[in-house]
Amino acid sequence: MSAELERIDPASIPYRTLYTGAKIPAIGFGTFGSDRFTATEIAEAVFGAAEIGYRHFDCAAVYGNEKEIGVSLQKIMSSGVQREELWVTSKLWNNKHAEEDVIPACRQTLQDLKLEYLDLYLVHWPFPNHHGPGADVNSRDPLAVPYIHENYIKTWRQMEKLVELGLARHIGTSNMTIPKIKLLLRDAKIKPAANEMELHPHFQQPDFFKFCIDNQIAPIGFAPIGSPTRPDRDRMPDDTVDIEDPVIIKIANKLNVHPAVICVKWAVQRGQIPIPFSVHAAKYWSNLKAATTEPLTEEEMREIACIDKNNRLIKGQVFLWQGAKDWQDLWDQDGEITS
Ligand SMILES: NC(=O)c1ccc[n+]([C@@H]2O[C@H](COP(=O)([O-])OP(=O)(O)OC[C@H]3O[C@@H](n4cnc5c(N)ncnc54)[C@H](OP(=O)(O)O)[C@@H]3O)[C@@H](O)[C@H]2O)c1
Repeated sequence: MSAELERIDPASIPYRTLYTGAKIPAIGFGTFGSDRFTATEIAEAVFGAAEIGYRHFDCAAVYGNEKEIGVSLQKIMSSGVQREELWVTSKLWNNKHAEEDVIPACRQTLQDLKLEYLDLYLVHWPFPNHHGPGADVNSRDPLAVPYIHENYIKTWRQMEKLVELGLARHIGTSNMTIPKIKLLLRDAKIKPAANEMELHPHFQQPDFFKFCIDNQIAPIGFAPIGSPTRPDRDRMPDDTVDIEDPVIIKIANKLNVHPAVICVKWAVQRGQIPIPFSVHAAKYWSNLKAATTEPLTEEEMREIACIDKNNRLIKGQVFLWQGAKDWQDLWDQDGEITS
């Protein structure tokens, strides 16, 4: 641990209560390095983050670093942190949606992370459409298909089995839309406990956010800072930059912190669970600290509510199917599932 960074008492970090009664830390640590960091660098950051007080880690098989993170998790637990004090999420990748693949994929993740169970296992995308790591924005899986609810439910039944087997304590969704999640709520035996979705000041998804809260599905917010160093494949000329927004900068100047910290602070206070990423100790420390210090004023919260630009950054073009118009088809813009 960097000598100058004060440890933040994990007990001081707010938490959210899921519908099962389980408590999840209200801020987590992202582990997708946007193709910029090695698995070892990210795993070292996971260890450093636990040392300064993080207890919640957002992993995924497709990030290609679960084996290395597993070594860090072991070290964290050997240093005296109990398994029950940690919250570890992982995700089923798109090429493992087939009924026979779900349980083995979860077992592989558990083996890599060196854990006996996950706190939360998510279906990473609601499509079985695959792409290799670092795929170009124009590359397409020739077998890609639109959302097929019948198939998603087959995958979900296997996710439910993971809970029955004790391999995952909770299951959830990611990159969903309201109409898709409504169908899932209608047909699930085990309801999703959380939905991981893009959430930052310029992309607040107010309707979907409210839908999740109203239905006791915890919204986990990815790209909480607006993913300023995301891969080129996820950049479009019209994208806006949260940390350059005058409102965010004004509040950051007042509190004498980086604008990124305001994005994280706002997220925790609004009620989503942000999972900011950085391998740099001073940055991940300031993000965690933001969750424990004096809240933003009501006026500041209102000001940030007004800067939503509906600017989705992670558009998901690489998951499009033959015949789809454009990336908006992935997100059911008109309230109906696009087929
Ligand atoms: N479910 C999904 O489909 C999905 C999709 C995307 C992401 N995720 C998850 O969400 C996590 C976070 O998303 P993300 O990494 O794309 O975006 P992000 O957390 O919004 O942004 C990360 C960037 O913000 C910078 N940063 C972080 N804290 C900072 C601070 N205090 N001061 C200044 N700069 C700071 C980092 O800079 P440096 O790198 O220079 O430190 C890094 O470039 C991922 O790691 C992953 O776990 C999930």
